[in-house]
Amino acid sequence: MICHTEAERAWRITTRCGGDAIEGLFVTGTDTGVGKTVVAGVLVGALKARGVNVGVMKPVQSGGMVVDGALTSPDARFLMALAGVKDSQQLVNPVCLEAPLAPSAAARKAGIRIEPEEILSAYGRLRNLHDFLVIEGAGGLAVPLCGKFLIADLALRFRLPLVIVARSGLGTINHTVLTVEFAQHRGLEVAGIVLNHIEENPPGEAERTSPCIIGELTGIPVWGPLPFDPAVDVLKCRQGNIVDAVCSHLPIPYPQPY
Ligand SMILES: Nc1ncnc2c1ncn2[C@@H]1O[C@H](COP(=O)(O)OP(=O)(O)O)[C@@H](O)[C@H]1O
Ligand SMILES: [Mg+2]
Repeated sequence: MICHTEAERAWRITTRCGGDAIEGLFVTGTDTGVGKTVVAGVLVGALKARGVNVGVMKPVQSGGMVVDGALTSPDARFLMALAGVKDSQQLVNPVCLEAPLAPSAAARKAGIRIEPEEILSAYGRLRNLHDFLVIEGAGGLAVPLCGKFLIADLALRFRLPLVIVARSGLGTINHTVLTVEFAQHRGLEVAGIVLNHIEENPPGEAERTSPCIIGELTGIPVWGPLPFDPAVDVLKCRQGNIVDAVCSHLPIPYPQPY
């Protein structure tokens, strides 16, 4: 279960990082499939419920889906639905690749090269449209976009603090600590860690003990486990009840995100 004090602490940190004003969050993960899109969606939904003009961005999607003849990012679609925004796909998801590969490999397969400057230009335009941006990376921090330019380098150029999403079960301590160390080594600030319970089985002893151990090892606030919600489905763009479930655990008045 999400503990009130931890949730409050994590919430404050995700909205006012280290006491400094922030304009958004970059959601990354220990892996693909850990729940980055769902957690980013929860943050978006919770901010929107508090009246914040929140925008979203999925700079690079690999494994895009063809919808009505057009290559579409399921993650961008899910996040846009939660934010209730109608920004152009070019801004929200400037790079959408069909192959479910690392972005640099998917781009090569599509015969293109990912240009970080183009992504940064879309980011700059989105910042003018919204007061706060929630951005979802691709895979984890060491995933390459082009050559040796990694997701971590993109996050650094955005100058946003990270939220690291990790599985809540066994094995997550190692993955999470490695991700935090890598982020800090690259000069990235980690605002918080969200453990996500992505299985139907009820949380076991590993889920109960990991948050505290990760908190002790990293010194970073740990939030979660985010409960499993069978009604959530990113690919089908179904939000389920996860935003309400989390909001009801955040008895905080409207936070000041600036
Ligand atoms: N808390 C949750 N409850 C139920 N299903 C979840 C939860 N978190 C993630 N999922 C499901 O797990 C899959 C992977 O989650 P997703 O957010 O797409 O991961 P990522 O963005 O890291 O690749 C998706 O099908 C999503 O709907
Ligand atoms: Mg995703």
